[in-house]
Amino acid sequence: MCGIVGYIGKKTAQDVLLNGLKRLEYRGYDSAGIATLDDEEQPHIARSVGKIAELEKVVAKEPQTGHLGIGHTRWATHGGVTEANAHPHHVGNIWMVHNGIIENYKELKAELKDVEFKSDTDTEVLAAFIDKNFAKGTSLKDAVAKAVKKVRGTYGIAVFSPLEPGKIVVARLGSPLIIGVGKDETIIASDASALLGYTREAVYLNDGELAVCSDDNVDVYNLNLKHLSTNTETIEGDLAQIQKGGYDHFLLKEIMEQATTLHNTLSGRIDPKNGTMHLGGPNLTTKEMKDLRHIVIVGCGTAYYAGLLASYYMEQLIPDITTEVVIASEYRYRSFHLPEHTVALIVSQSGETADTLACLREIKKRGAKTLGVVNVVGSTIAREVDGGTYVHAGPEISVASTKAFTAQVVAMLMFAGMIAEVHGGNKSLISQFTQELAILPKEIEKTLNEHHDTMKKLAKKYAKYDDALYLGRDTAYPIALEGALKLKEVSYLHAEGYASGELKHGPIALVDDTFFEVFDILDNWLFEKSIGGLHEVRARGGHALVLTDAVDKEIDADDVVRINTPIKQLVPILLNTLQQLLAYYVAVERGNDVDQPRNLAKSVTVE
Ligand code: AGP
Repeated sequence: MCGIVGYIGKKTAQDVLLNGLKRLEYRGYDSAGIATLDDEEQPHIARSVGKIAELEKVVAKEPQTGHLGIGHTRWATHGGVTEANAHPHHVGNIWMVHNGIIENYKELKAELKDVEFKSDTDTEVLAAFIDKNFAKGTSLKDAVAKAVKKVRGTYGIAVFSPLEPGKIVVARLGSPLIIGVGKDETIIASDASALLGYTREAVYLNDGELAVCSDDNVDVYNLNLKHLSTNTETIEGDLAQIQKGGYDHFLLKEIMEQATTLHNTLSGRIDPKNGTMHLGGPNLTTKEMKDLRHIVIVGCGTAYYAGLLASYYMEQLIPDITTEVVIASEYRYRSFHLPEHTVALIVSQSGETADTLACLREIKKRGAKTLGVVNVVGSTIAREVDGGTYVHAGPEISVASTKAFTAQVVAMLMFAGMIAEVHGGNKSLISQFTQELAILPKEIEKTLNEHHDTMKKLAKKYAKYDDALYLGRDTAYPIALEGALKLKEVSYLHAEGYASGELKHGPIALVDDTFFEVFDILDNWLFEKSIGGLHEVRARGGHALVLTDAVDKEIDADDVVRINTPIKQLVPILLNTLQQLLAYYVAVERGNDVDQPRNLAKSVTVE
């Protein structure tokens, strides 16, 4: 979604801002802009609809020479995709960028009868309020504090004024802001990836805080303007992780690097010799683990599907615990009840998803312990949970989540394994899962390498269709859902995931020879049942692509891709990597913007 960059230092601000905005492109946006203050304290602004490349063209015509500035990528919420609605916004003596939503902007606007608004945005209303306060002779810091106190909604803002040169004031509520502290320079960003290569030291602003930043200082305050002490934290990651590394797209890079990233997820957490798993982060006492009776897993989209797959494993490993998986956008408004001894797993790649964060807060209110299953270090969810585990998948740049899914499932599985141990669970089953986890990276690598060309070829064929059904049973069901989501996200094909057993309860009505069906079929006790669905689809003219670990069983389908692996329980994770390749190559075949699919944002920070 929207992204913010700010800079004060010795470098030309325009270059740092454009570079930072490019790093944030992956979040999804539809317009962009920068505003800088030159050394004569004159402000300059450039905005454009479309990609950063368009903004660069505008800036090239009138380069901005100042050493202080703010930049923004906008994902439209209030008002269409126009240059006038793009940030930064300028009202009176205020230049401002904003992430989030000002829910009461209409009320606030009504109080500003004398302001002539130039855009349809909620942001301009807040800028006008800051300007109004500022005009009364207060400092910029005080004007910002006073204005944001009136806001209902969420904001991450960066503001400058030529009347107080040399400083940028930032504030946050529900929308991340990180202040990178460099040598004689300060770089502000809504996402740590924009800071990489400039500095590793950063101040993470908390909700309800504002900061006054200059090139050599950061002062943090609460909204009552009490000065707060600040801690700098070290930013993880390096530049190579946010570059394509020779691949055409981040999506392909992230699919192909899963074996490596999974090593990081597993590192120090499994003991194949003793057949045990252990996570350090959950911060649960042995008694809390023993008492545990109920696990609720919360997430959106792919994170939800990862939770769904993990729940099947949890039911096997810890049968005395009830596991429930919920969609965050629904759960947050339900009158849910959490029994005693509940732990909530809050699953999120970005750690910023608005609905997931809202659930976390609702669950905390009800007194249950919350544990994060998060990828982005230092993200809001990671900071607000009681404990948890980082999945260590590394920066995921492509909007479509791939390696994070794998890492999330594995992290939750290790959590279940650890609890199973304390609950006196089935030792040989715990050990079997541990052994499979130990070889999973190698098996993922083998699967991706062996079937890469086949999936590419099949994608060419299936890219011609407009509709697809993904079907799976048992642990293959969550990956059928995930496979369909991945395909629709990047290829824009209509794709639906179903439990195979549901086929006759409705979706089979759709099947004719204009559809193709992806069957995720496991070589287990449900094989024959899964094959039944395949026959029914074939009999109605459907075109079936089967992904399976059954190497020697007869399967009558248009195409069959067989994975030969010693893995049994974790086969769905392997099949899913094939689905990822299929989605990727179908999208490429259809000429889509693979890494930044239309209408989507990497982290959904608004409802
Ligand atoms: C995945 O491909 C999607 N882009 C989306 O469903 C995503 O998984 C969802 O928005 C949740 O994001 P999070 O993991 O950052 O919370």
